[in-house]
Amino acid sequence: MGAKPLREGGPAARIAVIPGDGIGKEVTPESVKAIFAVAQSARRRIEFVEFDWGADKFLREGVTLPPDAVERLSNEFDAILFGALGDPRVPSNQHAADILLGLRFKLDLFVNARPVALLHDRLTPLRDRTSRDVRFMVFRENTEGLYVGVGGFFKKDTPDEIAVQEDVNSRKGVERIIRHAFEYARQNTLKRVCMSDKSNAMTFAHDLWQRVFKQVRSEYPEIESRHLYIDTLAMEVVRDPGQFDVIVTCNLFGDIISDLGAQLAGGLGLAPSANIHPGRTSLFEPVHGSAPSIAGKGIANPIGSILTSAMMLDFLGWKAEGDALREAVRAAVREGLVTPDLGGSKTTQQVGDWVANYVSIGN
Ligand SMILES: NC(=O)c1ccc[n+]([C@@H]2O[C@H](COP(=O)([O-])OP(=O)(O)OC[C@H]3O[C@@H](n4cnc5c(N)ncnc54)[C@H](O)[C@@H]3O)[C@@H](O)[C@H]2O)c1
Repeated sequence: MGAKPLREGGPAARIAVIPGDGIGKEVTPESVKAIFAVAQSARRRIEFVEFDWGADKFLREGVTLPPDAVERLSNEFDAILFGALGDPRVPSNQHAADILLGLRFKLDLFVNARPVALLHDRLTPLRDRTSRDVRFMVFRENTEGLYVGVGGFFKKDTPDEIAVQEDVNSRKGVERIIRHAFEYARQNTLKRVCMSDKSNAMTFAHDLWQRVFKQVRSEYPEIESRHLYIDTLAMEVVRDPGQFDVIVTCNLFGDIISDLGAQLAGGLGLAPSANIHPGRTSLFEPVHGSAPSIAGKGIANPIGSILTSAMMLDFLGWKAEGDALREAVRAAVREGLVTPDLGGSKTTQQVGDWVANYVSIGN
């Protein structure tokens, strides 16, 4: 998925690690442990450098994303492994917006890839559905839409208050994410791409999505392409998930539909994601947030983060090692060696240890 060539002369791979807040600080070390174990057993060299950006640093020093962060990350690292941001002590969420949205926008990570894959049939809430049905990729546009922060208040905190939030869509931005979805389908011999929007109501922004989709799809005649309004897509993904291979949509709808997909595959604790600009330093994070309600209890599921690491290894060109992590996680789920969110009794660390051991002994 758009691997970045590793830097010449350095160690084989150099990873910036940003655990962040809450359960991000608990699941990320388990991922690092699993990656280290799989790299060691494949005799590959990998180096991790940790950054303490998050709520604690913000509250202590007033720093969110340091001024040289983007330059350092893109020049010195092949990839970024990220935990989660969000802390009840920072109700404005300012640090999270600066760090996470800052990195997505400033590194121009326009592809948010969120695979939905059922690891074990017992995990889906859908009756009579199996891992053959719940298996599709969501590509969410990641640098535009309603998330750019253009807008404002008028007469704030009065009864006449008005709030405006602009939906920004550029031809370049829409085209590159739609093209990425078709390229992914072609490279992985997947037959179907579905573009989703709300062009019946959003008659300017999503009219652009319609026109670009029609133009790009004509270049991929071997792929069956179709369009669904987002409300219909939400229904269809639940009714018959097996009809989808690749879904491509805007920032907001991708955020929502991928959480729905995560639930169909067993919940947020299992869902991985990648923020990618093909060929450049990219950022890998589980779909879940910092989950303050369970933080500090040692029960957060590390599988979403470990599957995220597998996507990162794919991106580095280490496909066999990525597959080894995915196989280890499937085995843990099969054996019931899981955290309480999946009905198990293991701690975050015990699951991480088990996965690291599984890949070390070369299963
Ligand atoms: N990318 C990110 O950093 C990111 C993403 C989403 C939310 N957030 C932030 O996280 C904070 C909490 O948000 P939220 O509660 O809406 O979403 P959340 O994903 O943090 O948690 C929602 C619920 O899902 C469950 N859950 C999530 N991850 C889990 C895991 N690994 N193991 C077991 N259970 C898990 C928990 O029950 C949790 O209460 C907020 O500050 C929010 O802004 C950050």
